[in-house]
Order: sequence, then structure tokens, then C-alpha cells
Amino acid sequence: MLNNTGEINKRWYPGYHFAVPAGWMNDPNGFVYWNGYYHLFYQYNPYEPKWGPMHWGHCRTKDFVTWEHLPIALTPDQDYEKGLGCFSGTALAQDEKLYLMYTGACTTGEGVLQQQCLAVSADGMYFEKLNNAPVITKDAVPEGYIQAEFRDPKLFVRNGRFYCLVGGRNTYGEIFLYESIDMEHWEYKGTVVNEYFKVDGVLECPDIVRLGDKDVLICSPQNLPQEGYSYQNIMSSVYMVGALNLDTGRFETDYMGEIDSGFDFYAPQTLITPDNRIIMTAWMNLWGRSYPTAEDGWVGAFIFPRELTFQNGRLYQNPVRELQQYRINPVCYENILVEGKISLEGISGNRVELNLAVDLQDSDVFGINLFSGVKHATRLYYEKKTNCLILDRTNSGKKIKENPIEQPEGIRRMKLDAGNDKLTLQLLLDKCSVEVFAQDGVGVMTATVYPDMNDVGIEFFAIGGKALICNLQKYEIGGFEHENE
Ligand code: FRU
Repeated sequence: MLNNTGEINKRWYPGYHFAVPAGWMNDPNGFVYWNGYYHLFYQYNPYEPKWGPMHWGHCRTKDFVTWEHLPIALTPDQDYEKGLGCFSGTALAQDEKLYLMYTGACTTGEGVLQQQCLAVSADGMYFEKLNNAPVITKDAVPEGYIQAEFRDPKLFVRNGRFYCLVGGRNTYGEIFLYESIDMEHWEYKGTVVNEYFKVDGVLECPDIVRLGDKDVLICSPQNLPQEGYSYQNIMSSVYMVGALNLDTGRFETDYMGEIDSGFDFYAPQTLITPDNRIIMTAWMNLWGRSYPTAEDGWVGAFIFPRELTFQNGRLYQNPVRELQQYRINPVCYENILVEGKISLEGISGNRVELNLAVDLQDSDVFGINLFSGVKHATRLYYEKKTNCLILDRTNSGKKIKENPIEQPEGIRRMKLDAGNDKLTLQLLLDKCSVEVFAQDGVGVMTATVYPDMNDVGIEFFAIGGKALICNLQKYEIGGFEHENE
């Protein structure tokens, strides 16, 4: 199934997050529920652990934890995919068939071309490219916008018609809306955000989901300038709650925010489950970094899928509830007073879920050392005087080179209200990553880290006073069939 049959080194390979089998992976694509499975495709270079000719890798799951690898769904074999490949896009289940809409990206004598293409499958396994030609060609790029930067179609249905959002740019990033009655012939409707972002880049990977009588628009702007502690990465992912006008394309925004305030989160996509939950996945990495696992033969993992809910217009994210079926060996504590630095028997590990509720009491700082060992630790701490949760990977293990524009290097801060001095944290640790869900998921931070294999300590600390851990649960994540064999 894999073209790359080379053995990979699994020292940092995640235990319960989806990761590329070998080679390179970036964005999730075509995340969709179809015929009893959640299907997930991904930007994939099967030949090398670095970006290259883009294929669509493919896998499926019933519970977001155990994934089954499937044959490559799209291979770049057409002229309009030559040189670059099958770029990101989305899936739509329609009339018993599964449709993929993606960007055919090629290099020509005159430069790069990016056009939107369709592929269809009756069995969810083998895909046929429709007419062997793009369905939204370069000629449909609105005047004044760049034909070479026109990508990542989001295909969806409203009121019995097909719609498609496509990312693009002129001076600033933009998203375009198209409409169709058959997915083959498309009519341009208008621009969606009207230079709202003023970014020198593309608004990549648009996604949209309906929430009651509101729309939630998601996209990943390149080069979004930092604003306070928001958008500290060179590329960010944002959500906007509002309303999409299907006649003009215009999106009226009530509220906008950053989805994840950590280091490694990009190009999210959502699906709706049969029981109507909105589930999001994303690439757990970012462009312009060094990728320590490249020397191990693989690069690329996704976040643990998250359930999205909205309260007062604000986004809340929580790990999908299916994870609970994989909790093993619980260790629980109550009322632990923290003064200075402490560790607790049974609380350690690098493939664990940790849940805690803390009363910050008179401490100035309360924190946790994760993946802690003789030389390293990843530090997560709440600082009362700035109302910030801070994730520090400067001494996590193998150094990650970040984009020099992203300052301070190795540290991300997130404003977080800890009214009444109460802090709740849910942490997912998985070999080379930590995901932090704070205050019931209203603040989220994700980081990849590359500790030594015996950096499995977890310690708690309080500075300037005492803090009380009211309760604490730790679970290992396991019980997988393939590990019991
Ligand atoms: C986002 C992105 C997309 C593009 C794909 C190429 O990470 O740049 O805009 O389709 O990656 O792999």
C-alpha cells in the first residue's frame, strides 16, 4: 500500500493520534462521515519525509482513535497536477457516492496554476477524477486576483444547491464563493471576507459549518500579524461566527477568535457526526519549522479530534468523548496542597490524559512540568499577575527551529480568565505532543515536543504561595487491539 517501504523509527511516534505511516503529511483533507465510517484524507508525500508531490493519503475510523489505513486516494497523474500535485480540499457524501474536491496544482512554462477538481467514488476506496479536467478553472478566478494562488475548495450543500469556498489573494488574502447545481458547472458569487484580514498571503483551507441559525467560518490565514498574545505563529487558524450570504458571498462576522494558542495547529477541518456533533481535526504542526522526526522517516500527525461547541459566541473545544473508552489504569488524588515542587506516586507517563481542577489560592504561579527528566521539561503554568497560561518548550528536548518572526522563541502565552482563582486543565500527552484544554476548553494550546525516551516525569509547582489541586485524574491511553496481540 505504501510506496515508501522503508522502516521508520517510532521513538516519537504517537500512540493514539493519527500520524503518517511513513513519509510526509501536512493538512487533513476530506474529513467526512460516510457509510458507517469517518473518512480522513491527508496531504501526503509517500516517498520522503519532506513536502513533495502531493497525494491524498486515506484512512478511516469508527471512533477517532483506531485508524485503518486505506490505499492512496489521489495520485498526481494529470497535466494539471504536474509538478505540485493534488492539494487540499474537502469531501461530500451525496447520492450514495463520495465526492472529493481538491486543488490540481501544476507548474507550467508561465508559472504555477491552481484549479479546482472533482473526484468521485462509489465504494469510498477508489476514486475517479471527473472528466480528467478541473471544474473551476483559472478563468473563474475573479479579476484582480492571482491565478497561481487559488486553492483548498470547501464543498458543501445549502438549500439543495452546491457551494464551494476557495482561498485566494490579491494584495490581501480572500475567500471566494461559487455555486453549482451539479458540481461540474460553477458560477462565481462573490468575495467572502472583503479584505477583512489584510494579510499578505492566502486565506488557506476555508471550512464552514452551520450552528443553529449561525454560520461558523474557519480559515488559516498566512502571515496574520500578531495582536497582543493572539496569532503568535507565522500562520494562524481562526474562526468567525456570523452569517454567510449565499447570494453575494459576503460573510458578516459577529465574533472572531484564534482556534488554538499553541505552536502546532494548522488547516483545521470539521465534520458532522450522525449524532450531530461538530468534530474538528487539524495538522499538528506548522510551516517553516524544523521537523525532528524527519530523521526517523516520518513527519506529520494530527491533533486528537475535538468536539466543538459554542457558548455566547465563543468556541469551546474538547477531546472527542470516544477517548474515554481507551482510558486505562486510572490514578486519582484529591486535595493536594502544592508548595514548591512536588511529584505524586503514579502520576507520570508520556501517553496519558491528565485532568485537574486547581484552586490557585495565594500562589503567584501554579504550573506543571511535563515530559520531565534529568535534562528536560515542558513547562505549563498559570501566571496570576498577567492572567496568562504559558506553554514553554524551550527546554523540552530536541530543539525545534521556529520561524524567527515568531517571538519569543519556544514560548506561547494565552490570556485566560481564572475568576475565583479556579483553573481546570485537561492535558493530552502522546509521545511527541501535548494538547492543553483550559477552563472547560475555552482556551486551547497545542505543542509538539521531542523529549528523551525516559523523560516521563510529571511535577507540579507553586511559586509565591500555595495552590490546592482539588482533584486530579491520570489515565494511560491504551487497550488497543494491536497491542494486545
Ligand atoms: C496549507 C497548504 C494548502 C495547500 C497544501 C499543500 O498547509 O499550503 O494551502 O493546499 O498545504 O500541501
